[in-house]
Amino acid sequence: MIAKNFLLTTAIATLALAGSPVGSGQWTEVHPEFHLQQCAGGEVSGDSYTLPKSPNGSTSGSGCRNGHLRAERSYENHYTSGVHQFGGEFNITSLTGTHIALKQTHGVNSNFFIMGIKNNGDIYEIHSGRPIASGVAKVGTTVRINTIHDTNKKTYALYINGKLSYTDDNAPSGDAYYDKCGAYAATSGYGTITVNWDDVQFWTQ
Ligand SMILES: *[C@@H]1O[C@H](CO)[C@@H](O)[C@H](O)[C@H]1NC(C)=O
Ligand SMILES: *[C@@H]1O[C@H](CO)[C@@H](O)[C@H](O)[C@H]1NC(C)=O
Repeated sequence: MIAKNFLLTTAIATLALAGSPVGSGQWTEVHPEFHLQQCAGGEVSGDSYTLPKSPNGSTSGSGCRNGHLRAERSYENHYTSGVHQFGGEFNITSLTGTHIALKQTHGVNSNFFIMGIKNNGDIYEIHSGRPIASGVAKVGTTVRINTIHDTNKKTYALYINGKLSYTDDNAPSGDAYYDKCGAYAATSGYGTITVNWDDVQFWTQ
C-alpha cells in the first residue's frame, strides 16, 4: 500500500511538471503552426532532429541560405507585443558534435536568443557566450526548458527543469518574434547530433 501510494504521488508530480507553464500570472495555451527547416543535410523526422558531421554544400531550402547545418521547427507564433512562453523537453540520443543550438527565440529581422549545448552537457547562450547551466544536457537525459519573453517589460527568462537559470533584463522589442527548436550548428558548432523535442507547448498572457 505504501509503495502504491508512493508510485501514484510520483506519477502525479511528474504529470504536473511536464506541460505546465512556469512563472506567475494567468497563462492561456495557444497552438501555433510550424514549418520545417532542413538544411545542408539536417533532417527532421517527427519529434527527432538529426545533423550529420558537416554540411553537404547545399544552400537551398527554407532557412538554408547560410549553408549551416539545420534541422528545426520554425513556429509561426510571430508576436510584436505581450508575454509569451515556450515549454518543451529535449533529450539528446546521440552526439559526436558540439556547440549546437537547440532552441531559439528569433526576431524576424534580428537574432535574439540562441540556447546552445556543448559536448560536456553545458548549456549556454551562443551570441554572448554566457553560461546558463553546467553538465545538465547529457546524452540520454531529458531536460525541460521554459522561456518567457515579456515584450512590455523587455525581459527574457529561461527555466531549466523548472529552475530560473538565465535572465536578460534588456531584451529587444520592436521586431516580430517567434520560437524555433531542433538542432542548428551555428558558426562555432558541428554535428553529429540526434535530439528529440517532446511536449512542445506555447502560452501567452
Ligand atoms: C543536402 O541536404 C538537404 C537536407 O538537409 C537536402 O535537401 C539537399 O538535397 C542535400 N543536398 C545535397 C547536394 O546532397
Ligand atoms: C529519449 O528519446 C528516445 C526517443 O524518443 C526515447 O526512446 C528515450 O526513452 C528518451 N530518453 C529519456 C531519458 O527520456
